[in-house]
Amino acid sequence: MTAPRFAEQLNEQIGNEFAAHQQYVACAIHYDALTMPQMASFFYAQALEERDHAMMMVQFLLDTDCEVQIPGVDAPRTSFTSVVDPIELALAQEKRVTEQIFALTRTAREENDFAAEQFMQWFIKEQVEEVATMNDLLTVVTRAADDVNAIEEYLRREQGAGGAGGAGGADPTAPPIAGI
Ligand SMILES: [Fe+2]
Ligand SMILES: [Fe+2]
Repeated sequence: MTAPRFAEQLNEQIGNEFAAHQQYVACAIHYDALTMPQMASFFYAQALEERDHAMMMVQFLLDTDCEVQIPGVDAPRTSFTSVVDPIELALAQEKRVTEQIFALTRTAREENDFAAEQFMQWFIKEQVEEVATMNDLLTVVTRAADDVNAIEEYLRREQGAGGAGGAGGADPTAPPIAGI
């Protein structure tokens, strides 16, 4: 039996993950409009990952017979002042989500909900990776802020190697995604 307090908080988190999805779509479009296809595809891929996080949470609630609510989300920021701006926003977002994931884990622990606590473990690891990825990207893009081609070249190299791309290969330890 999933702790009601955890289920309620996880339903809220579904909204946060979809909000992150919308925000990354907005970032991708910013770079697409600047004709930076590598940066655009990086953020389109990040957006899909956020959508998958939301649907993993949906699947967990379905599997544990909890009611699923899909919250509305606030509009993302769509206007940016530079090539660095969206990455600073993304890094702040990932740090905020990390705190939300920790809070969910804390609730699971307080409620002695061991299945919920185990479910959260993958997201803890994922947040470490996502914060690190955005930190690296911020360093590179800040350094090359007036050399768009250098930024694009970095991403082409790193994404090709499965590095900064995030999408990488399929992760066999990832929780199941509803609908897939
Ligand atoms: Fe996420
Ligand atoms: Fe994320």
